Formats: sequence, C-alpha cells, structure tokens
Amino acid sequence: MIVVTGGAGFIGANFVHQWLAAERDPVLVVDKLTYAGNLDNLSGLRGDPRFGFAQVDICDRAAVAGLLAARRPRALVHFAAESHVDRSISGPGEFIRTNINGTFELLEAARAHWSALDGGDRAAFRFLHVSTDEVYGSLGEADPAFSETTAYAPNSPYAASKAASDHLVRAYHHTYGLPTVTTNCSNNYGPYQFPEKLIPLMILNALEGKPLPVYGDGANVRDWLYVGDHCSAIRRTLGAGRLGETYNIGGKSEMRNLDVVHAICAVLDELRPRAKGRYADQIRFVTDRPGHDRRYAIDPRKIEGELDWRPAQTFEAGIRLTVQWYLDNTQWTERVRSGGYRDWIQANYGERLGEQARQ
Ligand code: NAD
Ligand code: DAU
Repeated sequence: MIVVTGGAGFIGANFVHQWLAAERDPVLVVDKLTYAGNLDNLSGLRGDPRFGFAQVDICDRAAVAGLLAARRPRALVHFAAESHVDRSISGPGEFIRTNINGTFELLEAARAHWSALDGGDRAAFRFLHVSTDEVYGSLGEADPAFSETTAYAPNSPYAASKAASDHLVRAYHHTYGLPTVTTNCSNNYGPYQFPEKLIPLMILNALEGKPLPVYGDGANVRDWLYVGDHCSAIRRTLGAGRLGETYNIGGKSEMRNLDVVHAICAVLDELRPRAKGRYADQIRFVTDRPGHDRRYAIDPRKIEGELDWRPAQTFEAGIRLTVQWYLDNTQWTERVRSGGYRDWIQANYGERLGEQARQ
C-alpha cells in the first residue's frame, strides 16, 4: 500500500481518486484536516476497502512512525503543506511548522521505516516529495522557463518554506540514501480546489455577483496545469523517476491573470448567463500582493523525455471542466465556505476592495 499525506486537500484528493481508479495498491491518507483539508473531497471512497484515513499531523513523528510500522507502505507521497501564498504573508509561522518541520519529521519517520525494511522491500521503497515551481522565484518576460537546474530564489514565506523542504529531501537522499524523488509543479486548477485560490475564487465570486479582485495590473503570468495531469505526472514519477532526481511538471500554458479571469467569465457567460450584462463587468483591480512574483513558467522537457509524460488537457478544455464542476457541486462549495473562510475573505480583501472603491 501507499501513504498519501495531505490527501484530503485539493491535489492530494484528486491524486487519491485517480490512484484508486488506475492502480492496484491501497491508499492510506494521512491528513491533519486543517481549514484546507476536507473529508468531503474523499466521500465517494467511503466503503472502498482499499481506502483508509488517519487524522494525523505530520509534525507528530511518533504517530506517523506508528502508522508506517503498522501498515508497511511501499511508498510515501507527500502533499501535506500550507499552500496559500497570501496566508503565508499574513501568518508565516504555520508554513514554517508544517512545510519545514513537518517534512523533517516525516523524513525521519520514513528513514527509520525504510532502514528497517529488508532486501526487495527496501529497494522498492520511495519517498515522493510534491513541491512547487515557486522555489525558483520570479522570471522576467524574456527569461527561459524554469528547468531542474535553475537556481532556487524563493520570494514568499510559502516559497521559502517549500524550498527548505526540498533541500531537506535532497539531503536525506544524499546523506542517508533515502530513495527520494521530488517534483516541482506549476499552478494547478480543477475540482476540489479551495476557493481562496485564483480560479475557484473567481468562479464563485462571479456567480454571486461579487467583485472579481485582480491583484495589481493583472499581467502576472502563471503556467496552468489541470490537476489530473499533475496527478498522472506524479504517478509516472513514482513509478519510473530516478532516485535523488527532481522533475519539473507543467503544461506549457502560460497566461496572464487577467486573461485567466476573462476566460472564466466567457465560460460562465455561456453556461450560466447573467440576467443583465457580462461577468467581466465584475472585474476590479485591487492592491497588489506584496512581493508578487511576476512570471512562472516550467520547462517540462525532462519529464517528457525521460518519463514520456504529457498533459491530457488543454487550458480551454480544463477550465470548462472546472467551471462545470463548480456549477454542479454547489453543496461542496457551500460547506467549505464556513465561518473561517468568511473571516479570511474579509481579512484579505476587505481593505483591498475598500481602497479600490475609494479610487
Ligand atoms: P491544499 O492546501 O489544498 O491541501 C493541503 C492538505 O495538507 C490539506 O488536506 C491539509 O489538511 C493538509 N495538511 C496541512 N498541514 C498538515 C499537517 N501539519 N499534517 C498533515 N496534514 C496537513 O494544498 P494543495 O493545493 O492540494 O497542494 C498540495 C501540495 O502540492 C503542497 O505541497 C503544495 O505545495 C504543492 N503544490 C501545489 C500547487 C497548486 O497549484 N495548488 C502547485 C504545485 C505544488
Ligand atoms: O506555482 C505553483 C503555486 O501556485 C503553488 O505552489 C501554490 O500552492 C498555489 O497556491 C499557487 O500559487 P499562486 O500564488 O500562483 O496561486 P494563487 O491562486 O493564489 O494566485 C494566482 C495568481 O493570481 C497570482 O499571480 C495572484 C493572483 N491573484 C490571486 C488571488 C487569490 C489575484 O489576482 N487575485 C486573487 O484574489
């Protein structure tokens, strides 16, 4: 079986669904269930004998070690993290705790587990660390895309905490021989994404007639990948990635934020037209994110060439699937937008939109 940390979050849950549909091994999800963790994301799997769940904080080494000893996984896929850049700016402490200390505790538990395995089991064991392109910092308009050899230059507390976790994983391979593989992926979107992130926030705000808050001039560029394609890349890397290596994952789909928001509005205009006007009328330019990285872009040639991985979705198809999913799953969105979510929206956008309104 395999252990998936953070499997109740956005990408982790998509990964677990895809894994159980495509692979044989059972899955144990290990998740603390922070505000971003949601068992509704896994509710379709209740009753599946190959699915298990343990509510555990990855910082709790003894609890993780107990699970590894009891379940003897052949692999650990590590998604658990604090993941939202804006939250890392307003409160970095939790990012240091989970992303750095948590990864350290997990590595220690995994090292003890792996060291105690024998022969074939020891050779087959994998620790797959899921990371981000944000560790490479920000690109200028004409810079080449991030490759696996681009120097690390993280700019936000989130990116710095992920960079630190990547370095720890690298060191555990180099020093102890722990069989690790690291992936660095670009921006994901798709079903189950918590509506603090750009795409689901815009879809839900649009449907509620609220402002669509675009940071700065809206010309920051992100390289978008449909979440199912990230999951297929992780499965491929887990199966065939070379030990101690890192693989960049991306869909060669660079877009300016403003164009992403317009694309969402266009799909909504078609699928759920407003009574009057168009969704793009709701766009508002608001105060920028401090230290906002201008551009991310992934050079995926290594994973394409070595592991023969390609994304299945274009942005046009993926964004349509995503908008449709949010239209079809209003119960899910109602449930995630709890009191805590409303407090965050007020804290992050209250002043931004206030300032915008005064201009
Ligand atoms: P998410 O915030 O939706 O989910 C994170 C999950 O981790 C949640 O289920 C949460 O409960 C769990 N978690 C948090 N702290 C924990 C702890 N201390 N112990 C156990 N569980 C804990 O995040 P996501 O967007 O699904 O991202 C998953 C991973 O992929 C992260 O490591 C992130 O850095 C990486 N990543 C994300 C993107 C993206 O676009 N979202 C792109 C590249 C890489
Ligand atoms: O690149 C990979 C990273 O992508 C992941 O490691 C992170 O976990 C994930 O959150 C994401 O980070 P970003 O900061 O790029 O994603 P976010 O959805 O927060 O923002 C995308 C872009 O949209 C960014 O340039 C900021 C902008 N934005 C975001 C929000 C929430 C807005 O203009 N308005 C908004 O309200």
